[in-house]
Amino acid sequence: MSFSLIGTGSAYPARRVTNDELARLVDTSDEWIRARTGVYERRVLTDESLEDIACAAALRALEDAGVAPRELDLIVCATIRNDYITPSLACLLQKRLGAGCMSMDINAACSGFLYALDVADGYFARGRIKKALVVAAEAMSKMVDWTDRATCVLFGDGAGAAVLSEGNDLLSLRVTASGNAEHLGIPNIEGECPFSLRAGKPQHVYMNGQEVYKFAVNALCRELEAIIDAAGVRQEDIAFVLPHQANTRIIDAAAGKLRIGAEKYLSNIERFGNTSAASIPILMDECRRKNMFHPGDLLALSAFGGGFTTGACVLRWCKQS
Ligand code: COA
Repeated sequence: MSFSLIGTGSAYPARRVTNDELARLVDTSDEWIRARTGVYERRVLTDESLEDIACAAALRALEDAGVAPRELDLIVCATIRNDYITPSLACLLQKRLGAGCMSMDINAACSGFLYALDVADGYFARGRIKKALVVAAEAMSKMVDWTDRATCVLFGDGAGAAVLSEGNDLLSLRVTASGNAEHLGIPNIEGECPFSLRAGKPQHVYMNGQEVYKFAVNALCRELEAIIDAAGVRQEDIAFVLPHQANTRIIDAAAGKLRIGAEKYLSNIERFGNTSAASIPILMDECRRKNMFHPGDLLALSAFGGGFTTGACVLRWCKQS
């Protein structure tokens, strides 16, 4: 027994920040950002909390699935940075939704949604749960260095959610990790221990863009091939690819190496930037609400990110539009 995905939801802050606004903060331009990344604007948290948007996405997914919070057996949140170190975002949501189930967060950076699906899949396989809520929510704006033009233009905030029930619509799923803090990272608080001999580091995203770019193109391409193969289907059978929304050029470079038509790669990066773990579920929810998916469609999801991590899966869409 695995799962079927029976509901989606997404939510994001009200505040849009355009490339032109960023050009007033750092030495950049709308033209450079569009050409190098595909991003036109992103959403940024102002007076909302991460919990607010995570909760709004979760409620939309639950409504879409016709599932009440009390029916949930598991909540898994994927996030790099909850507002609390403890309690987890999943515990905060559990309280706010009025659910009563076990709840936990996982951090696999931009691959977090796929890792969370994998965690849920294990509980379904062991017969431990019948309904699960997976929420990916990120507050990247709280972690970027707003004086660093090489990173602050890339990211945005948002949340995406999915409700899962027992079923057999997950055809294959694979997650990987290869530890690397050199090329991409965000240091945590060092604390104030009087015995510590370590100096704290700035709590900002640092990145070697070109190294991450190479890793990303390879990972996207390799993991899509592997996961489609593992599902026992052909690349031509995939109805849509939902790639992590990090950079249009990364998606285009990977797409050029596979036998899946370019028109099947979905994207909304121009309006959201890179929302880390939330990017795939936000994209999925948008497309689902535009009735782009039909029962039986095979969707290939593929993410890569800090860690380095990757996550990919093939799902059969089971909902009527
Ligand atoms: N505006 C204007 N110029 C900028 C800029 C910006 N926002 N950011 C960097 N530049 C400059 C650089 O300083 C450099 O100038 P120089 O040639 O005078 O030294 C020039 O643009 C080229 O920089 P480079 O880093 O080679 O650009 P790039 O083509 O590799 O694009 C990224 C940079 C970050 C867009 C690209 O490397 C990338 O997408 N990497 C992967 C990032 C990613 O996906 N991270 C998240 C993974 S989950």
